[in-house]
Formats: sequence, C-alpha cells, structure tokens
Amino acid sequence: MKKAAKKKSSAKPTESSSKREASKNEGGEIIEFIKRDHKPLKELISVMKDPKAKMAEKKPVFKKFQSLLLRHAHAEEQSLYIELKSRKDLRLDGVEGDVEHALADGLMEEIDSIQNDNDTWMAKVKVLAEVVEHHIEEEEDDMLKKVRKEFDLQMRTEIGEEYERLYDELRRSEVELPTKQSASADSHRAESLRDL
Ligand SMILES: [Fe+2]
Ligand SMILES: [Fe+2]
Repeated sequence: MKKAAKKKSSAKPTESSSKREASKNEGGEIIEFIKRDHKPLKELISVMKDPKAKMAEKKPVFKKFQSLLLRHAHAEEQSLYIELKSRKDLRLDGVEGDVEHALADGLMEEIDSIQNDNDTWMAKVKVLAEVVEHHIEEEEDDMLKKVRKEFDLQMRTEIGEEYERLYDELRRSEVELPTKQSASADSHRAESLRDL
C-alpha cells in the first residue's frame, strides 16, 4: 500500500457543494472533474486514517465518504471507464478501476454490517481509506495522464458532461443523505465536512 499523502485532518475541505456547482457552470472536462471530486475524498481519508481520531469522530466521516465515493465511482465507471474499456490499449485501466471500486464497495458493506466490534470497524475503515487512497493516486499519477494523451479535448469534455450528469442524477436520487451528527467536543471536523 502506498504511503498516504499527509494532510492535516483538521483542515477544512476545499470543495463545497456550491463550489462544485460553480466549477460545473464554468465548463470543463473529465480530468478536471475527477481531480475536483477526489479532493473531498482525500480530506475524509485523512480523518479515516488518523490514529488519533476516535470512532465517534470517524463514524460521520465514514458515512459522508461512503456517499461521496458511491456517487463519484458510479459516475466514473459509467462515463470514463466505459470509454477506456472500449479501447484495446486502455481496457485494462478501466477493468482495474472497476475491480478497485468493487473492493471498496465490499469493504463498505462489511463496515455497515459490523455490530459491537469497534476494533474491527476501526481496522476496516483504515483499510478502506488506504485502498481508496491508493486507487486515487493511481488514477491521478497514471490513468488520467493516459486520458490526456489519448483523448482530445472535445472527447474529454463530452465524457466530463456525462460524468457530471450521472453524478448529479445520483446525488438527487439519494433518499437518505448523511445526517448531521450531534455536536461534541471533538466532532468539529465532522461538522466542517458535512456540507461537502
Ligand atoms: Fe475510480
Ligand atoms: Fe476517481
């Protein structure tokens, strides 16, 4: 597992819903959108990996992470990965992405089903954070560079539009959004992350 990109876990997220909208309205392409949506995930990962953060703090962070990752992964799979898989030379990147998303999905389901076993919950959340962190690093350091090289701007813009459509569709369809946790002395980080 690659080393984590160190970030202060108390740092405020840089991406809010309103910033996401602003960025969307300015137009853009898939590389820009994916990097933008990785940022809040990285912020949440830094809390999920933080050995000093308590379970009470990590619980709402995990729920937010789960919600954002599901939207991002779904939109990514159905826009960019589909295109990658349709090309012989890029197919493996798309398939690898699907496999890593499925790994994260499986872990999130396992975490959801844990009852009365805090150590296992904490361990699986940390592993999930490491798996997704590694996945994000690979996408940014390798896959997106290939996308820039192989797809022209028009293609990247079209994929980006589809990504945005799918992401927003899933966001709107979510019946149950993560709830605001009751404020406690050490839950300010979770509070600051709730409006991502
Ligand atoms: Fe991905
Ligand atoms: Fe991604």
